[in-house]
Amino acid sequence: MENIINNIPVTKCEKSKISDVDFNNLAFGSVFSDHMLVCDYKNGAWETPTIVPYQPITLDPSAKIFHYGQSIFEGMKAYKDTNEDVWLFRPMDNCKRLNISAKRLAIPELPEAYFMEGLKALLKLDSNWIPTNSGGSLYIRPFIFASGNGFHASPANAYKFIIATAPSGAYFSGKVKVAIEEKYSRSANGGVGYAKAGGNYAGQFYPTQLAIQKGYNQVIWTDDNTHEYIEEAGAMNIFVRINDTLMTAPTSDRILDGITRKSIIEIAEAEGINVEVKKISVNEVVEAAKNGSLKEMFGSGTAAVVSPIAAFGYKGTDYDLPELENSYASLLKKRITDIQYNRTDDPFGWRVKV
Ligand SMILES: Cc1ncc(COP(=O)(O)O)c(C=O)c1O
Repeated sequence: MENIINNIPVTKCEKSKISDVDFNNLAFGSVFSDHMLVCDYKNGAWETPTIVPYQPITLDPSAKIFHYGQSIFEGMKAYKDTNEDVWLFRPMDNCKRLNISAKRLAIPELPEAYFMEGLKALLKLDSNWIPTNSGGSLYIRPFIFASGNGFHASPANAYKFIIATAPSGAYFSGKVKVAIEEKYSRSANGGVGYAKAGGNYAGQFYPTQLAIQKGYNQVIWTDDNTHEYIEEAGAMNIFVRINDTLMTAPTSDRILDGITRKSIIEIAEAEGINVEVKKISVNEVVEAAKNGSLKEMFGSGTAAVVSPIAAFGYKGTDYDLPELENSYASLLKKRITDIQYNRTDDPFGWRVKV
C-alpha cells in the first residue's frame, strides 16, 4: 500500500492510461479511469474497502452471480466546475437506493460510510479523469454482485462491492421515437422493478430489440396487468406534458425511484409549473396527441438528464409530438445541470463537494 485517502488504503497504478484517452471523443461508458474501489463481504461482514488499479476480476465458475443473478448497481456522475472543484449530485440518494436494491436481492447492506468515503477517495485520486469540456462528466458505476460459490439456489455467502468510473462526453440522445409496449413487461407487482437489479435490464433487451426492428429507438413500459398505463421510458422515468401540466407516474413496486425524476418534480414546481404525479393512461396520451394538447414527452435519468421523445407508436399508429421552442424539457435540463456543474446556487441543497 502506498497511500491512505479518507482512511482507505490505496495501491496506485504504475503508469496512468490517461494520455491514451481522447477526451473529445468519448463513447459513453467505454473508457475506464486508472483506479477502482473494491470492498469484499466475507464471514458475515463487509471488510475495509481498498483502492487498486482498474483490472479484471477472477471468479469461480460456480459464483452465484452467474447462476442466480444477485447483482445490483447504481449510476451517478461527478462534475468539475470552472475552478476545478469536483461535485456530486445527491450521492446519498444513490447510496440509499443501492441498499434498497440490496435488501430486495437478499444482498447484505453496505455501510454508508464505505460508499461515501470510498467514492470521495476514488474521485480525489482520479480527479484528472473528470472531463472539463462542456457537458462532460465522470460517470460512476457502483455495483455489488454475489462472488460466493455453489450450484445451490440460495443467497451467496460472499459479495463484492466495486466502484468503477468512466469519463464521458456530453450525452445527446437525440430525439427518440418510442413504442408503447402492449405485450411485454419490465416488472410486476411484488417483483424487483424498483430495485436497480441487473436482471431487470436483461429482461428489457429482447422487447427493445423487437421495437428497434420495427423502427423505434426505445420501449415505453406499461403496467404489467393491463398495459393501459405508461410507467417508464427504456431505462429512464417518463414525463408527459399535456397543455401546461407536467405529469409523471407515481413510483411503485414496478418503477425505479429515479433521482433525476424527483429532482425534476421539485425544480418544475419551483418554476411554477403545474406537476401531477398520477397514473397516466395510454388512452389519455393518445387522445391528447389527436387533439393537439400533447405538448411534450421526455425520459429522465442520470446519463441523458432529459431525453425528448419525438414520436410514439401505439397499436400500429405513430403519433408525432410538436417541435417546441421553449420546452419544459430544455428549461428543466438547464436548471438541473446548472446545479450539477455549480453554475448557479443550489436552493435544494443537492450538491456535495468532493
Ligand atoms: C429503469 C430506470 N428508470 C429510471 C432511471 C433513472 O434514474 P436516475 O434518475 O436515478 O438515474 C434509471 C437509471 O438511470 C433506470 O435504470
